[in-house]
Amino acid sequence: MRIITFATQKGGSGKSTILASIAVAAEAAGLRVAILDTDPQRTIVKWSNRRKVEGHATPFVRACEPHQLAAEIRKLPLQGIDLCLIDTAGAHNVSVAPAIEQADFCLVPVKPTIADAQAATETAKALRERRKKFAFVLSQCFGSTARVNEAAAGLLRHGEIAAANIYHRVDYPDADSAGLGVTEYNPNGPAAKELRLLWAWLFRAIGGESVKEESAA
Ligand SMILES: Nc1ncnc2c1ncn2[C@@H]1O[C@H](COP(=O)(O)OP(=O)(O)O)[C@@H](O)[C@H]1O
Ligand SMILES: [Mg+2]
Repeated sequence: MRIITFATQKGGSGKSTILASIAVAAEAAGLRVAILDTDPQRTIVKWSNRRKVEGHATPFVRACEPHQLAAEIRKLPLQGIDLCLIDTAGAHNVSVAPAIEQADFCLVPVKPTIADAQAATETAKALRERRKKFAFVLSQCFGSTARVNEAAAGLLRHGEIAAANIYHRVDYPDADSAGLGVTEYNPNGPAAKELRLLWAWLFRAIGGESVKEESAA
């Protein structure tokens, strides 16, 4: 099993949105996925409830207090889970530390704005200090490619950037409202295409092939 924590101290950067669609893409690729929602806002629990109304029983989602994480995570391999995604509150405080501690890999969504980039570099510093593998993912991108590339160049001084950018697109909130991932909501749309690219990159970053082999063994 691999554990990916979505963390940034900045709220509204796209953590929950990207996490939900990544969970759906990972399931479509054959992995069994669990999500532990440690954000008191319970964004993912609510998404999952909308999803159940539409008849989707997975991914497995559980609300979880940060201090319960270790115990919840220990149960997951016994339930056949291959990939655990942890959502966190948009704050850099003690409540996020256990989620980072548990992670094999952290994904740090960051909007291409100065305020978000500054907040993300603080998060990156904390992750480096804890010797965590991590990458930024540019989130809610807008404007020209040159503009996005400029933001990427600034961030690259502080850490790796995922090889797929997520743009500001209406499919993201619309899929969320429907309790879906973007690849289910509009499979041929540009949001689904960039999300699949991000998943393919993330799958390699976490050594996904060996996860599949372990679970088949
Ligand atoms: N790529 C995107 N395109 C358009 N809207 C987005 C995108 N990502 C997130 N949003 C919207 O921005 C808001 C904050 O996103 P959210 O994922 O909840 O952020 P976080 O979990 O980091 O606080 C939500 O209303 C969400 O629907
Ligand atoms: Mg959130």
